[in-house]
Amino acid sequence: MVINSDANYAREFLASCRTLIDSELDRLIPQASEQPQRVHEAIRWSVFAGGKRFRPALLLAVGETFDARADDLLRTACALEMIHTYSLIHDDLPSMDDDDLRRGRATCHVKFDEATAILAGDALQALAFQTIAEDEKLDAALRVQLISEVSRASGTPEGMVAGQELDLNAESREVNGDELERIHRLKTGALIRAAARCGALFAGANEDELAAITEYATNLGLLFQITDDLLDVTATAEDLGKTPGKDARASKATFPALFGIASTNERIKSAYRYSCEALKKINRSTELLAAMVEFVVNRDN
Ligand code: IPE
Ligand code: IPE
Ligand code: MG
Ligand code: MG
Ligand code: MG
Repeated sequence: MVINSDANYAREFLASCRTLIDSELDRLIPQASEQPQRVHEAIRWSVFAGGKRFRPALLLAVGETFDARADDLLRTACALEMIHTYSLIHDDLPSMDDDDLRRGRATCHVKFDEATAILAGDALQALAFQTIAEDEKLDAALRVQLISEVSRASGTPEGMVAGQELDLNAESREVNGDELERIHRLKTGALIRAAARCGALFAGANEDELAAITEYATNLGLLFQITDDLLDVTATAEDLGKTPGKDARASKATFPALFGIASTNERIKSAYRYSCEALKKINRSTELLAAMVEFVVNRDN
């Protein structure tokens, strides 16, 4: 669905972030030659497989909007990508979504083995918090604030882990629209919201600005997972880098399954509008943040 073409602006921004983020991730993640080699190889297999780097780029985009220095944000941005990649490795496990294709290559447990994939995810999560805790560019109070933000968004009861449990649980029971939104807000929205809030916290945004960024990113996070649901129905494996059609086969609670494609597109449009509306409350140039919304609506993977 093409709403307008500002998505290209975001694509260019994402490409420039990817270069920065990938070289910092390479510095932060132990080399594959270092012991225990198998875990390090597995981490690198999953991290350097070509993800969009949407969460770290969103953090950098919010930071840029509020005039923070990209250099100061980079490590926390990488920490978010580590948490995200850990969540993907575990999401693909046989006991969860049981997927064998991710980011265009074999999933971590298929390429290595289940135990290694579990450990690679665990290690990435630990490394994420270590990365923020040991970031000497930041004062100690900010580090604690960032760790609190990211840990809340990752765990339970208000973070990704809670959403993943509800998602699995919903495979075997009927859920209504409110429950479905809650699953999506937690399993995917929470980390996207945290990414944006971290960018605002870095830059010392005031309370009203932080509230507006939170509203923007809450809708953006929901939008991100609804488009993920839609792509599972409409995209090809080649574009997606994962196996389409899996959600229906696994009886996942998704927007297309509950409401059909037309209503899913309507909900995409309303989440898009709410996200953009929130930006009007910010007295800064917010083109880049608006472009990130366009990117999500127009993405093909
Ligand atoms: C996929 O996230 C999983 C969801 C939370 C929807 P992305 O679509 O950001 O995956 P990558 O990082 O680009 O591989
Ligand atoms: C994943 O949702 C959310 C995570 C926390 C990883 P999905 O299960 O829909 O993500 P994909 O489609 O496998 O990337
Ligand atoms: Mg899942
Ligand atoms: Mg999955
Ligand atoms: Mg999905």
